[in-house]
Amino acid sequence: MERVIIFDTTLRDGEQAAGAALNVHEKLEIAQQLEKLGVDVIEAGFPISSPGDFKAVRTIAREVRQPIICALSHANPEAIDRAWEAVKEASQPRIHVFLSASDIHLFYQLKKSREEILEISRDMVARAKKYLSDVEFSPMDASRSEPTFIYRILEAVIDAGATTVNIPDTVGYAIPQEFGDLIEGIFNNVPNTHRAIVSVHCHNDLGLAVANSLEAIRRGARQVECTINGIGERAGNASLEEIVMALKTRNDFFGFTTNINTTQIYKTSRVVSELTGFLVQPNKAIVGANAFRHQSGIHQDGVIKKAITYEIIDPKTVGIPASSLVLGKLSGRHAFKERLAELGYSLSDEALDHAFTSFKELADKKKEVTDKDIESLIAEELRTASEVYHLDHVEVSCGNRSIPTATVRLIAPDGQVLADAALGTGPVDAVYKAINRIIGVPNQLTEFTVKSVTEGVDAIGEVLIRIESGGVTYTGRGASTDIIVASAKAYMNALNRLLIAKGSNKK
Ligand code: KIV
Ligand code: ZN
Repeated sequence: MERVIIFDTTLRDGEQAAGAALNVHEKLEIAQQLEKLGVDVIEAGFPISSPGDFKAVRTIAREVRQPIICALSHANPEAIDRAWEAVKEASQPRIHVFLSASDIHLFYQLKKSREEILEISRDMVARAKKYLSDVEFSPMDASRSEPTFIYRILEAVIDAGATTVNIPDTVGYAIPQEFGDLIEGIFNNVPNTHRAIVSVHCHNDLGLAVANSLEAIRRGARQVECTINGIGERAGNASLEEIVMALKTRNDFFGFTTNINTTQIYKTSRVVSELTGFLVQPNKAIVGANAFRHQSGIHQDGVIKKAITYEIIDPKTVGIPASSLVLGKLSGRHAFKERLAELGYSLSDEALDHAFTSFKELADKKKEVTDKDIESLIAEELRTASEVYHLDHVEVSCGNRSIPTATVRLIAPDGQVLADAALGTGPVDAVYKAINRIIGVPNQLTEFTVKSVTEGVDAIGEVLIRIESGGVTYTGRGASTDIIVASAKAYMNALNRLLIAKGSNKK
């Protein structure tokens, strides 16, 4: 059976989503999870765009050895040289060169003629080719370009050595049949297409990214570019999990396989959501909280009798834990460890000890500790493992007749204990002001969201915040059964990410 190449661009186009800024450690963590998921290609970043992106691509190229590691590049010599520097230590490096091809972009943005575009594309692919054999080329805004011009560009870049030619629906404008016609047209009109893989890259502005990608596969494309949870510029990119599960579930229709280990899908979705701070909408196909929940009586009745009545995918296939086993305060370290393993976590002994202590504290406050609680608890452990300042103590006093007051105590990277207090308009404001008095990094809170992880008054509350400093957005998350503590942790998490980005050492 023929295989479709899965090209993941979560770390490049996904990270272009407003507010998703990831640091090098977080990008590496996502890349390692993508490797477990089995993606064929990881587009790790855009090295010329910033020193941080360069470093992230180079780190991933060194550490993640199974997939092809790809660096994006403008079609100019400096960007290509920089991309090569970043990616050259990968076990299988790729450079992806792009240049606009639509008259709209040529006229209003680049102010170049088609002939100039053709020449630059050919020359820049040839330049990349001097460094490595695996070169991809994308004529940007292809779906709004003159097809005959796309054919000419593709023929020229394949002759210059491009081994993959990618057709982007950059602004998510295409309709499946029309996009499929474009792909079919390429096979019929570009004489050397047999020397390259035809790829597609669809955006979701009209909610058609997955449909367009699948239609393109039907018409001959053999690589799809996609992101976890569909994150990306504007309305996002085609969602990896939806494409993969459509190909798998409807193999009878498509007849293609992928290398994806689907049981890693749910975990990967959680990791990306956690690190980018983008919550997954509950009704999101495949990975949303409601994707496998049956509410209506008639559906529940059917599923109890035979799951296939209303379930087209077994949740286990995408790695959603099957067990509804609930842990409590009498559960031991062994049961806790087993549950973690079933949820896909393998912690070092030290991290396990720490997580187990947190679990026991939680179990004291909460009668039943569910899988969602455990996931939230582990996420909290991972956050504290990469801190500059640690939140040691937070206390508030508030009420309808008192002025909200907070006292906080932080541990600095050198072990110094720092404490301060502040008044605020509310308890969270007071906590944030007290923290600011200690850390003193100017920033603005731009988003604050609270959600409960499970149902009930004893549920863990998860706080997601975004702060802005020097034009950059940093996301922070915190979880606790106490909303004020969760808010303090989320603020510390965002501040720690800011400090790490600015070069402060972790503890
Ligand atoms: O959407 C787009 O056109 C892109 C290219 C760089 C491939 O992301
Ligand atoms: Zn894109």
